[in-house]
Amino acid sequence: MKGKFIVLEGPDRCGKSTQAKMLLNTLLEHGKDVLLTREPGGTDTAEKIRQIVLEPDLDVRPMAELFLYEASRAQHTQEKILPALEAGKIVICERYTMSTCAYQGYGRNIDLKMIETLNKIATLGLVPDLTLVFLMSDKYFTQRGEYLYSDRLEQEDISFRQKMRKGYIELTKKTKNAHLIDADKNIDVIQSEVVELLHKHKIID
Ligand SMILES: Nc1ncnc2c1ncn2[C@@H]1O[C@H](COP(=O)(O)OP(=O)(O)OP(=O)(O)O)[C@@H](O)[C@H]1O
Ligand SMILES: [Mg+2]
Repeated sequence: MKGKFIVLEGPDRCGKSTQAKMLLNTLLEHGKDVLLTREPGGTDTAEKIRQIVLEPDLDVRPMAELFLYEASRAQHTQEKILPALEAGKIVICERYTMSTCAYQGYGRNIDLKMIETLNKIATLGLVPDLTLVFLMSDKYFTQRGEYLYSDRLEQEDISFRQKMRKGYIELTKKTKNAHLIDADKNIDVIQSEVVELLHKHKIID
C-alpha cells in the first residue's frame, strides 16, 4: 500500500476528535495529502449504519451491534480507506478494529477470537501503520462530557467503561505499532507526543 493508515482509538470523550484535527493540520503543514475519517461511518451508507448503532432509544442486541459495526467497516474500508491508501494518501481514522475488540469483546463479553475473525473479513486484512490509543481517568468522562449529547454506548455504566479500559491496555500491548497515550494530560502536551510518534514511525521527517 502506498499511503499510511493512522488510527486513533480510546474510550468515549478521551480526545480522539480533538487530536485528529490537530494531527490533520500537522500533516497538511508537512505537505501531506491527508484524508480524515471516522468509524462507525465515513461514507453515506456507513453513516446510516452509524445512526442505527448509536441511537439511544433503539433496542440493539450485542450480536446485532457487532455486525452493524462490521458492516459499517466493510463499506468504509472498501469505498473510502483502501482507495485513498492506494492513491498514496495518509488516512487518519477515528476508531477502527481495536474499538470493536474493546467494546464488544471486553465490554459485551463476545468472544474476542470471533471478533478478530470478523475484523479481518471486514477490513480485507488491512491493519493500521500506527494506532494511537488515548486513555484517560474515568472522572474526565463526566467532566469533559458534561454538555455533550450521550449516544447509546455512552449511556453504559462505569463498570462497562472499566472493562473497556482494561481491554484497551491489553489490546495495545498485543497490537503491532500501537502506543498508549495518557489522555489526562493537556491537549498540547498530547499533541506533541503524537508528533514525536509520527517522526518515530517515519510518517514525517
Ligand atoms: N486533553 C484534554 N484535556 C481536557 N479536555 C479535553 C482534552 N481533549 C479533549 N478535551 C475535551 O473533551 C471533550 C471530548 O473530546 P473529543 O470530542 O475530542 O473526544 P472524542 O474521543 O472524540 O469523543 P467521542 O468518543 O465522543 O467521539 C471535548 O469537549 C474536548 O474539547
Ligand atoms: Mg469524537
